[in-house]
Amino acid sequence: MSYSPGLENVPATESSISTIDLEAGKIWIRGYSLEELAMECTYEEVAHLLIYGHLPDTRELNEFRRKLVDESLAPKEVLDILGMLPKDMHPMDLLKTGIAALSGFDPELENSDIEANRRKSVRILAKTGFLVGNLGNIREGGFRLFRSDLGHAANLLYAIIGRRAESWELKAFETAFILYVEHELAASTFAARVIASTMADIYGAVVGAVAALKGPLHGGANEKALEIFQYDVEGAEKFVRERLARKERVMGFGHRVYRRGIDPRAEVMKNVLAELCNRIGDDRLYRVAVRVEELMANEKNLYPNLDFYVAPVYKLLGISPGLFTPIFVASRVAGWCAHVIEQQAANRIFRPRAIYTGPRGQKISGRG
Ligand SMILES: CC(C)(COP(=O)(O)OP(=O)(O)OC[C@H]1O[C@@H](n2cnc3c(N)ncnc32)[C@H](O)[C@@H]1OP(=O)(O)O)[C@@H](O)C(=O)NCCC(=O)NCCS
Repeated sequence: MSYSPGLENVPATESSISTIDLEAGKIWIRGYSLEELAMECTYEEVAHLLIYGHLPDTRELNEFRRKLVDESLAPKEVLDILGMLPKDMHPMDLLKTGIAALSGFDPELENSDIEANRRKSVRILAKTGFLVGNLGNIREGGFRLFRSDLGHAANLLYAIIGRRAESWELKAFETAFILYVEHELAASTFAARVIASTMADIYGAVVGAVAALKGPLHGGANEKALEIFQYDVEGAEKFVRERLARKERVMGFGHRVYRRGIDPRAEVMKNVLAELCNRIGDDRLYRVAVRVEELMANEKNLYPNLDFYVAPVYKLLGISPGLFTPIFVASRVAGWCAHVIEQQAANRIFRPRAIYTGPRGQKISGRG
C-alpha cells in the first residue's frame, strides 16, 4: 500500500456537483462558472442549483425564497439553549450546538431519501442563516426575524448589522457569500460525506462539517487573516516578514489545490475590495492587501485564497470578526447538503486503510 499525506491528489469520490478546473482557472458548479454565478445570480439561485441540480425558473425561485423565510425561525428551545451557553464561547461552537439541537425538531430526521434530504436541506439552510445572523442578538436575549421582502443574504446581513443594507453593501456581501457556497472536496465537505456515508442523518453530517470548518487551516482562516489588516502598509510588511522568519503561516495564503497561482475566487474579491475602498474614499486596506500579496509571491511563491480578500471586505462592512467563519457556514451549508444528498443517493461507506507504523506482538505480561 502507498499513501499520499493529506490525501493530496487522491480522488476520494465521484461527484457531479463541482470541480476546480486549474487549466481553465475556473470553478465549475454543475457546469456554471462560480465566478459568473457570484456576479450575476442571487444566493438563492445558486443554492437551488446545488440542492435541486438546476437553476430555478421564476416560480421555483419565488417558492424557494419564500421557504427560506418561512422556515427560518429556530425553535424557542434552541434559542434558549444558545442563550444559556458561556458568553465567551466562540460563535462557531455556539453554531455547532445550535445545528445539533435543531435536529431534534425535524420530523424527517431519520428519512434519508433524496426528497426528504432536499426538504431537510432547505430547513437547515433557512435556520442556519437565521442562527448565524442572530448569534450576537441571541446573546443579548433577542433576535431579528427574517423578512419576506429580503433575500437570504440580505436577511442575514440585516440580522447582523441591524438595518437594511445599502445596495452596494449587499452586493459586496452577497458576492462573497456566493463565492463561499461550494468548493469540491474541501476538508469540511469530505467530513460531511464521510459521516453521510454511514447513513447517519444530514444534521449530523452538517455538524461534523461545521466542526471541520472552524479550524484555522480551513474556514477559520478568514477570521485570522484579519490580523494583517490592522496595520498600515509598512506595519503589515513587517508583520508578515516576522511571521515568515519564525516559520509561521500567514493566514489567507496557500491552498492545497491552487499551488501556482491565485484562487480565482480571491481575484473576484480583490475587485470587490477595490470598489469598496473607492466608494468610502480610503484605500488603506487595498494597499495593504496588494503589498502583502506581492511580498508572499516573492518570498514564498504563495498566493492569496478567498479568505484573505474576504476579511478586509467584511471589516469594511462592519461585521465583527467572530462572525466571519459562521457566515462561511451559512453559505457553504448548501454545498454540504448537496454532497450529503449525492452521497446518500448512491452510497458506499468510506472505509480506507492506514499504513501501520506501530509494533506487533507486544507481550501484556511482564510490564514490571
Ligand atoms: C491551505 C493550507 C492548509 C494547505 O496546506 P498544504 O497543501 O498541506 O500545504 P503545506 O502545509 O504542505 O505547505 C507547503 C509549504 O508551503 C508553506 N506554506 C503553506 N501555506 C503557508 C502560509 N499560509 N504561510 C506560510 N507558509 C505556508 C508550508 O510551510 C510548506 O513549506 P515547507 O515545504 O517549507 O515546509 C496551507 O497553505 C495553509 O495553512 N494556509 C494558511 C491557512 C489558510 O489560509 N487556509 C485557508 C485555505 S482556503
